[in-house]
Amino acid sequence: MEDKVEETYDRRCADVYDQWFGYFDEAAVDVLEELAGGGRALELGIGTGLVALPLAARGVEVHGIDASPEMVAALRAKPGGERLPVTMGDFADVNVEGEFLLVYVVYNTLFALQTQEEQVRCFRGVAARLAPGGAFVVEAFVPDLAQLSAGRGVRLLHMTDERVGIRVFEHDPVGQKLRSRHVVFKDGGTRVFPVEVRYAWPSELDLMARLAGLRLRARWGDWRRGAFGAQSEKHVSVYERPARAS
Ligand SMILES: C[S@@+](CC[C@H](N)C(=O)[O-])C[C@H]1O[C@@H](n2cnc3c(N)ncnc32)[C@H](O)[C@@H]1O
Repeated sequence: MEDKVEETYDRRCADVYDQWFGYFDEAAVDVLEELAGGGRALELGIGTGLVALPLAARGVEVHGIDASPEMVAALRAKPGGERLPVTMGDFADVNVEGEFLLVYVVYNTLFALQTQEEQVRCFRGVAARLAPGGAFVVEAFVPDLAQLSAGRGVRLLHMTDERVGIRVFEHDPVGQKLRSRHVVFKDGGTRVFPVEVRYAWPSELDLMARLAGLRLRARWGDWRRGAFGAQSEKHVSVYERPARAS
């Protein structure tokens, strides 16, 4: 029987996540530090802390939520990782104590929530924990119609002298789901990482935000605040909890 994806992906990839799949953009830390405004920050899906640790190193009080003991163990093993407060659980519930000036979810991680209902619940949970004037930052891909309309396909993820990573995917346009397998070939063997996401268009995310009482403050095409437009492959969206009812 096939493993349940959500139970296997992070367990399978925690040991190689930073090296093969993770990416780090210092500009993201610049933006998040500014938005935290000296207050508390919360990362949904904190994982191995690729973003949280550099942000904490700048003096921001960073908390996290994650469901994977393996990913959090990798975070704990890094310098400073043992000090970050992490709540183990499902970030659809945003079940943490206190108020935050910044909540953020990077690298398409919001789409790990497999249904629209869970994503809406997440926005509501975030809004409930944001201080007035606080920001919710979402970094996510813009669905690529040309690629998805084929229904299924294969893409090169990375290629070095030592290894090749590809992504094999199937698209369900009704459920807005991408069912993928990341396959890494290297000397000595092949590893397969199942990944399933429920994607949403930026406009759908804006509607989820409105349902939660948040409004779009800014949308960029990258962490350097580049313009967002028809050619953008991803977006960085900043939603805010209004400082007072409008
Ligand atoms: C792509 S990784 C990103 C990790 C981290 N943001 C980083 O860049 O280091 C996604 C993370 O979200 C976590 N995750 C996925 N779905 C989750 C859920 N429903 N609740 C809590 N954590 C979840 C995974 O365990 C994993 O650590």
